Amino acid sequence: MPSVSSSVPPATPPSRDAVVAALRTAGCVFAEDEAELILATARTPAEATAMVEGRVAGLPLELVVGWAGFRGLRIAVAPGVFVPRRRTEFLVEQALERAPGASVVVDLCCGSGAVGAALAAALGDIELHAADIDPVAVRCARGNIAATGGQVHQGDLFEALPVALRGRVNILAANVPYVPSDEIGLLPQEARDHEPMVALDGGTDGLDVLRRVAAEAPRWLAPGGCVLVETSRHQAPAAVEAFARAGLATRLAVSEELYAHVVTGVRPQAPQAPGPAGSPAR
Ligand SMILES: C[S@@+](CC[C@H](N)C(=O)[O-])C[C@H]1O[C@@H](n2cnc3c(N)ncnc32)[C@H](O)[C@@H]1O
Repeated sequence: MPSVSSSVPPATPPSRDAVVAALRTAGCVFAEDEAELILATARTPAEATAMVEGRVAGLPLELVVGWAGFRGLRIAVAPGVFVPRRRTEFLVEQALERAPGASVVVDLCCGSGAVGAALAAALGDIELHAADIDPVAVRCARGNIAATGGQVHQGDLFEALPVALRGRVNILAANVPYVPSDEIGLLPQEARDHEPMVALDGGTDGLDVLRRVAAEAPRWLAPGGCVLVETSRHQAPAAVEAFARAGLATRLAVSEELYAHVVTGVRPQAPQAPGPAGSPAR
């Protein structure tokens, strides 16, 4: 392996060619792009060397540089926190399409807080709440959504949220864990080795957490508000059924480009109370 390390702190960063060669030898398919990113991110020669060593040892690139790109934002990521995926940008787009004027937004199962941060960036002045069961994720999300004025809560799904949100939420985004337990072993090694099981494992058919979200969501949504989850092509019919069973007006949206499947459920508007017979229309 081409060496980029030494026992004394280097005075100059490793050359681009040396970094590309080291990354390529380690099996990085996009070695040139990764080398550019590492050299542009490292603040000192020693940091550049440490980053290359981390990547060569198999750390995900996002953990090496400390951030992931998501809808044009730099989302800070930390060891033990799920790295936001490009395909989840489709969930954000669906939310913005269904509720363009949303003012109360919840990012449930928030991980790094990427979804909430992206919604806040697109919607402007909103009341944002994010929540996760994992304290490591909560700490990371706090950093990412601090600038929006949003709050991050820790706890099991809706138990984490302030009760005052009930019936007021316009967008409830919930990128829940949805990998079936016996398919965890098929995930890329970077996910298996560096992301916590609680972020991946969705139970026997992958839909345990999703079903809980579907069942509880109507109590938290405002009339016309929507809940959105990401799922897989294979799981989509059962996910749609869980939403419909909860009384939500349900739709499946698919992005072939991002290979993303998002189920949206809208809480129906309360029926208009009929006016007294013969009352004048106004
Ligand atoms: C697939 S990750 C998604 C993270 C983030 N929303 C994203 O899109 O990058 C799922 C997240 O759900 C959290 N989680 C799992 N079970 C939970 C539960 N019962 N209550 C709250 N959060 C939970 C995990 O800690 C993890 O951060």
